[in-house]
Amino acid sequence: MNVTIKSSEDLEKMRIAGRLAADVLEMIEPFVKPGVSTGELDQRCHDYIVNVQKAIPAPLHYGAAPGRPGFPKSTCISINQVVCHGIPSEDKLLKTGDIVNIDVTVIKDGFHGDTSRMFLVGDVQPFNRRLVEVTQECLYLGIEQVKPGNRLSDIGRVIARHAHANHYSVVEEYCGHGIGRVFHEEPQVIHYEGYNEKNDCVLQPGMTFTIEPMINAGKKGTKLLGDGWTAVTRDRRPSAQWEHTIAVTADGYEVLTRRSDENF
Ligand code: MF3
Ligand code: CO
Ligand code: CO
Repeated sequence: MNVTIKSSEDLEKMRIAGRLAADVLEMIEPFVKPGVSTGELDQRCHDYIVNVQKAIPAPLHYGAAPGRPGFPKSTCISINQVVCHGIPSEDKLLKTGDIVNIDVTVIKDGFHGDTSRMFLVGDVQPFNRRLVEVTQECLYLGIEQVKPGNRLSDIGRVIARHAHANHYSVVEEYCGHGIGRVFHEEPQVIHYEGYNEKNDCVLQPGMTFTIEPMINAGKKGTKLLGDGWTAVTRDRRPSAQWEHTIAVTADGYEVLTRRSDENF
């Protein structure tokens, strides 16, 4: 595996990018209400990133290749049974009872900060609130495993065990990732117990990666919609996701995308 180790100068830039990504989620919170379109939420995030933060929204045109236009919007917004990579649209209106993930990645001074959180829209059924809470606990349990000498597989194991103890399942087709000057770099951070000699590694200070568990109320299977991006649960039951960008420090972890409602 080719895992980059960030210098202290790199880490200072990662801190800035991470804080900006977290700030976008804090900025957008009061607008996540019944009746708003996901297109409007995306436009507000885009304008804030470009005009206020003077940064770049990494998802816009991401994955473009000859014959493939790339992701068309600046954030991913994923409602209910959408697992990840939902495409914001003026036609998609939030309604009371929805659970929604907004995933923000910014590039500042060449470095990426990547974070997402769930929002509850209006009155949400206890069943769905519980899925959102347990998924956040999965992220936090994964983060607590981050320290030099532990392994990537320690992260996947605690996440999967907590999800399964709550009778949920863990998405396997999408995973966390190394991050830095490159949006998605090695290592892959899988959120289930599928590690082997090839994809596991010992954590070292200066590694930076995301942890971003996608937890399903029903079965783990996903399906890609015809737009080539939107991933939904096969059984159409709801899915939740929370994501942070983490640095391995000398004695543990630093959450680079911490919000002010969190106290790591
Ligand atoms: N932010 C997502 C992640 O957590 C990636 C989005 S790529 C996009 O890795 F093209 F779908 F925007
Ligand atoms: Co993300
Ligand atoms: Co990510």
